[in-house]
Formats: sequence, structure tokens, C-alpha cells
Amino acid sequence: MSSSSPNRMILLGAPGAGKGTVAKGLVDHLQVTHLSTGDMLRAAIKAGTEVGMLAKTFMDRGALVPDDVMVALIAERVGQDDCKAADGSAKFLLDGFPRTLPQADALDDRGLGPDAVIYLKVDVDVIVERLTGRRSCPGCGAPYHVTFRRPKVDGICDICETALVHRSDDQEGPIRKRLDAYNGQTAPLVDRYRAQLVAIDGNQSPSDVLKDVLVAVSAAG
Ligand code: AP5
Ligand code: MG
Ligand code: ZN
Repeated sequence: MSSSSPNRMILLGAPGAGKGTVAKGLVDHLQVTHLSTGDMLRAAIKAGTEVGMLAKTFMDRGALVPDDVMVALIAERVGQDDCKAADGSAKFLLDGFPRTLPQADALDDRGLGPDAVIYLKVDVDVIVERLTGRRSCPGCGAPYHVTFRRPKVDGICDICETALVHRSDDQEGPIRKRLDAYNGQTAPLVDRYRAQLVAIDGNQSPSDVLKDVLVAVSAAG
């Protein structure tokens, strides 16, 4: 399926809501670049950059990385060619950014506020089950689950054949902290974006979530 879609899209939702999973499905249907700040930070950690080393101290305990670091990272990334539509205007799918009101302000200040915000609503007990059972690909960022989304070959990514890992923040202590950070700092964005926001029932199966999101983005496009 190929349809018109909004240029600047944001996926909003708690840790484990399924942002990464639905994003991987969306890019198969829409011509848009997926920007996951979590994946970008994990790549920076792997590369041993200064930003990566700083971010790790926050991520390992489930805390948010400081706004100035995140804004600089995204401002640089959205300027690249794969984040431009044919007419040169900005086009991207943000996953994990913005996560605070100052981060939302930073997008607005640059004229990059969203055309559509997809809000994945998921019950808290479902979130905890998803995060504790998640396995992630450090190569391409694809998410798997020991029960809900098993790779074809045990422990190996279907897409890039990298060995899957259990993220260091997918343990009970950091999960609780990430949920606290979400409730305190990110949840206010639901109200901030009420004019552009479409709420999707994220408790459904991955294919039903994707179906609902595709309907929502084509209506907004
Ligand atoms: P990040 O990597 O963005 O983590 P997160 O927001 O906690 O979100 P997750 O990636 O854990 O969940 P998801 O919604 O992508 O769910 P997924 O699709 O994987 O950020 C990590 C850290 O980086 C933060 O804690 C922070 O420190 C830092 N950071 C990043 N951005 C930042 C920012 N802007 N500002 C400050 N700090 C920042 O799915 C989860 C599991 O469920 C998987 O196993 C999947 O297979 C399964 N699943 C998904 N959908 C379904 C479904 N419909 N049914 C059944 N199972 C499903
Ligand atoms: Mg993710
Ligand atoms: Zn992979």
C-alpha cells in the first residue's frame, strides 16, 4: 500500500507501547525515514562517542538524557537528505522524541512541529510483560519478543542476522524508572498535541495496531 501521509509524524507512547514495532511496519508502507532516538543513542554508545558515553549513564538507570543533548542530536539528524521530501521540506517519523515539553518547544522553534501525532495507548501490565520479554537487534533496532514476536531463527535478527540482546534497561528497576519518567515528563505531551493527536489502542496485536495507524495517517495525509 502506498498512500499520501503527513510529512512530519511523531509516535508517542510509554516505554514498550510498541513505537519501534509499528515504525518498522510503517516504513514498509510509507516513504519516510524512521528516527528512533533510543536507537541513535544505543548506536552512539556502541561507537564509543562522547554523547554515547554520557547518554549511557542516564539510560542504564532508566532516566531521560538531558534536553540539550537530545535537541542537538535531532537537530543535526533532521537536516540530512533522507529527512527531506521531494520538494525539499522536512519529512520524518520520530519515535522517542520529543519526550519533554522543552523538546517539543525545540521542534516548534525550528518550524518542525508535527503534522500528525500517533499516540499508542497501552495498559501498564501489558507494558511490563512486553518489556521484560523483549529482545532487540543491536544491528538494525528491530524489536522481538520471547512470546509475541519470535525471530525465525532463535536469537538471530530476521532482517540483518545480528545476534539479539536483552537491553540493559529492560530489567525491573530501570523499567519502573522509565515508566515514572514517562508519566512525569512525557505524558503532558498528550495534551500539548491534542490538535494533531490520534489515539490508537496499542493493546491489540501488532498487525491490528499497524492497520489502525495506517488508517490514521492516511486520514491525516
Ligand atoms: P527508547 O529506546 O526510545 O525506549 P522507550 O521509549 O522506553 O521505548 P521502547 O523502545 O522501550 O519501546 P517501544 O515503544 O519502541 O516498544 P517496542 O516496539 O520495542 O529510549 C531508551 C532510553 O533512551 C530512554 O529511557 C532515555 O534514557 C533515552 N532517550 C531516548 N530518547 C530520549 C529523549 N527524546 N529524551 C531523553 N532521553 C531519551 O515493543 C516492546 C516489546 O513488545 C517488543 O518485545 C515487541 O516485540 C513487543 N510488542 C510490540 N507491539 C506489540 C503488540 N502489539 N503485541 C504484542 N507485543 C508487542
Ligand atoms: Mg523503541
Ligand atoms: Zn537486525
